[in-house]
Amino acid sequence: MRAKLERDFDRFKRELPRDFPAHVRETYAIDLTARYLGEVVPHPIGKGSGQLSLNPGQLEDDAAAGLAFVVLKTVIAEDEAGARAMAAWAIHETKMKLERRAGTGREGWTVTWKGRGWDRPFSDYLPLVRAGRDLTRAGRLLVVPSVKYHLPRVAEPFRESEYRHTTARLADAWGEPPLLLEKDFSPTLAGDALADDREQILRWLREVPARIRAASPLPVRVAVKLMNARFDDAFQVEMMNASAEANALVCFNRLFDVERGVAYGGWDLSDRNLRVLGTQLTPGTPHLRAGSVRPLTPGASPGLTGTGNICSGRMILEYARRGCESVQVHTFFQLPLSEYPATHGSRPQRALHVLVFHPRDGLIAGMLELEARGQLERQQGELRFLELRGHAHRAG
Ligand SMILES: Cc1cc2nc3c(=O)[nH]c(=O)nc-3n(C[C@H](O)[C@H](O)[C@H](O)COP(=O)(O)O)c2cc1C
Repeated sequence: MRAKLERDFDRFKRELPRDFPAHVRETYAIDLTARYLGEVVPHPIGKGSGQLSLNPGQLEDDAAAGLAFVVLKTVIAEDEAGARAMAAWAIHETKMKLERRAGTGREGWTVTWKGRGWDRPFSDYLPLVRAGRDLTRAGRLLVVPSVKYHLPRVAEPFRESEYRHTTARLADAWGEPPLLLEKDFSPTLAGDALADDREQILRWLREVPARIRAASPLPVRVAVKLMNARFDDAFQVEMMNASAEANALVCFNRLFDVERGVAYGGWDLSDRNLRVLGTQLTPGTPHLRAGSVRPLTPGASPGLTGTGNICSGRMILEYARRGCESVQVHTFFQLPLSEYPATHGSRPQRALHVLVFHPRDGLIAGMLELEARGQLERQQGELRFLELRGHAHRAG
């Protein structure tokens, strides 16, 4: 197996096989099948919402590279008159800076960027949704739009007209049900005065999925992308529990650096996310409030998707072993070309190559190692990615 993996890693530096999950299944008897927002996808690696899903060209490249799914850049909701309660998130900023960021003794990567959501007219977002719909229908790439809807203060009502208008137009662009949507709770929101109040945040999480469902003319599945709030780990778990009405939870968006006024990632982000996801799996952890841990019963609670500092197959396994059915990558698709061992191909292609096939730190190597340690068993001769989740549950 090891020799085969080294050979594959080397020869795929030039080009990945078109259907690499099939190759992995045939060669290693490993089934990479994963899930995002209730959809079965051929492997767990998708692209998180952001500056890398702004136009149809990027989607086309991602489909060609073989990504499992892509979440479009977050658009800011508006009503029929074009009014947007969250207009402060629609600011224009193009410049991104890739920086090294130290965390827990290791150097990681972070993208420093002062922007926020989609900064063009809402009507310009709809052709992108249609391009995503076409790729999804063709079975080439699952594409999901992302929205920032109005989030009121405790005493205020939700602006339903914004929910209705925005969702109806997205549903119209999408066409066939179900409509899949991600609702973003961003790091800049975490850094905003709106997010100073815990009760206010919990109300949003309890009510937003139902608001979106009520506003949609089509059956809709809602993923809630949770922020890293500026409170403790126990509150992160409380947020997860408050979101029980969502179909999926994306855990968790970037940290907010109050001093610099920017979001950041790297090892601090994965440390926190994994710690919180791990806590979820450990009932009775003393610092959590009684009753705040919801068991991860498959099917009964929202599916989890990990995000944050995914820079190796091993890191994907860390998220999977804490209950995640898939992952969303952003920063790792933005590294200098010299950082990827592959010599040819687009960044998503080069990233997939190393994340899956690296002989020591890739997904295949990691799953084989878990098998060797007795932590993952073959089912009908196959190691299954989605089994890791069941394992995490039993371990908890
Ligand atoms: C420049 C940049 C812009 C982003 N914009 C969005 C956004 O509009 N909506 C959203 O939900 N997440 C956004 N994200 C978060 C990413 O989707 C991802 O969840 C996060 O960066 C953690 O993954 P990473 O460590 O691989 O970057 C953005 C991230 C970056 C770096």
